Amino acid sequence: MSDRIDYPAFESKVMSAEEAAEFINNGDMIGTSGFTGAGYPKAMPGAIAAKAKAAHDRGDEWAVKILTGASTAPENDGVLAEADAVSFRSPFNTDPKMRANINAGKTKYTDIHLSELGMYVQEGFFGHMDVAIVEAVRIREDGKLVPSSAVGNNIEFMDAADRIIIELNDWQSPELEGMHDIYRMQMPGDRTPLEITSPGDRIGDFAIDFDPAKVVAIVRTDGPDRNSPFKPLDDTSKAIAGHLLDFLEGEVSAGRLSYDRLILQNGVGNVPNAVLAGLMDSKFENITAYTEVIQDGMLDLIDAGKMSMASATSFSLSLDAAHRMNEDAARYRQHIILRPQQISNHPEVIRRLAPIGINGMIEADIYGNVNSTHVAGSKMMNGIGGSGDFTRNAYISSFVTPAVAKDGAISAIVPMVSHVDHTEHDVKLVVTEHGYADLRGLAPRDRVQKMIAIADPEYRPLLEEYVEYASKSTAQQTPHDLTRAFGFHTRFLETGTMKK
Ligand code: COA
Repeated sequence: MSDRIDYPAFESKVMSAEEAAEFINNGDMIGTSGFTGAGYPKAMPGAIAAKAKAAHDRGDEWAVKILTGASTAPENDGVLAEADAVSFRSPFNTDPKMRANINAGKTKYTDIHLSELGMYVQEGFFGHMDVAIVEAVRIREDGKLVPSSAVGNNIEFMDAADRIIIELNDWQSPELEGMHDIYRMQMPGDRTPLEITSPGDRIGDFAIDFDPAKVVAIVRTDGPDRNSPFKPLDDTSKAIAGHLLDFLEGEVSAGRLSYDRLILQNGVGNVPNAVLAGLMDSKFENITAYTEVIQDGMLDLIDAGKMSMASATSFSLSLDAAHRMNEDAARYRQHIILRPQQISNHPEVIRRLAPIGINGMIEADIYGNVNSTHVAGSKMMNGIGGSGDFTRNAYISSFVTPAVAKDGAISAIVPMVSHVDHTEHDVKLVVTEHGYADLRGLAPRDRVQKMIAIADPEYRPLLEEYVEYASKSTAQQTPHDLTRAFGFHTRFLETGTMKK
């Protein structure tokens, strides 16, 4: 038997991706592994896309519905979008081709909290699941599946689907075995407390048990996870990270945090990754993370002995860092736990552990409402991801962003956000390169000057002008002038800049 399949009954199921694609039909609901460019199927999406193209060439309609853990990569979302093979997609995407199809209205997209998708599938909110396609490191002798670099919603998909296709990827290190903590979330009504009182606590198994009779195909692959490299640290991201660290130092001085055992949640994106780099030179030690993804900066912190443990559901590593992981997975396994995303992002555990939440954003308004997802209210960027799971429940939920986007044409601080993902009730801190706005305990009107102070200097007079109009409102709790609240956005749509 092959070194990756120790379960004799599956030997006869090995076939090519093209042969396995015969098990996929027009209209199928497919759940795939994969989370932020890690652990997604490498061969099946291309074979499914080819099947869709052939049907379209014959003049037939052909598309499938795709659910994942989160974003995948060009050889998954990209090829499927290029073939117009996806009618419905959830819960998170960063692929530019898929994004274009979503914004063109070709692919329907449901952007939901990542902790909730597994439950949506368990409860049948999306309808029936036909096929689960899951990347694995190994099938054990007891028939259990060892996931690869992401756990995501693999359990829920394998439980719900009629048919299972497993991709065994030789590129993934066999030493990932032992890094996972597999726990099957109970249905509502039967749930018991999750016994996680520190990020390193384990509550489950190393592998996924599933019904072997559902397996219709096993496909061998040998391809790397693919993730966009992080942008090099620039002065802006260094300044943002510096301000956030100043804030954390202030919390230590106030006795609300300690240099020992800081718990972090760090979102995807360039600026959150820059914050991790900033922590390297800080006084914080024994840092842990109860977070969604393991980024390059966390490997650096682990290597430097600054981070002792990180809990997540997947990696989100640049190719260089992914190679580092593969070469040294047995060591990293002592410091990393990969859990199902229902658990990595579970509100109960997040509220208990009380991490500092650090997430990126599109824009925030003068009262502290945050838009993480939609450009000018209508155009989807990526999705809310796990930012809502953490922001609502973290100890201090912060948002980090450059004060401007698109060479200054867009201000990240606006009078009223054009889409709301995180409300003023949950957002505690907003940080730009100009400083931080600590919104804790402040009434809406007291937040305004703090938010304007962190806006780009060119936009501050325009924000002050808006506040002047809004102050004439007859209602003084959260003053707005609804005739002008979206003036920044409408100006951008009409002229290409929010500047006057
Ligand atoms: N209007 C238009 N575009 C904007 C924008 C705005 N107000 N703010 C940012 N952008 C664009 C940037 O120009 C950049 O585009 P580019 O790649 O073409 O240069 C892109 O969004 C990314 O912005 P960047 O400043 O590099 O920040 P980031 O990498 O931290 O990403 C988000 C910011 C909001 C897109 C990202 O954090 C995200 O998708 N968040 C939602 C999901 C999430 O928080 N997940 C983590 C939960 S655990």
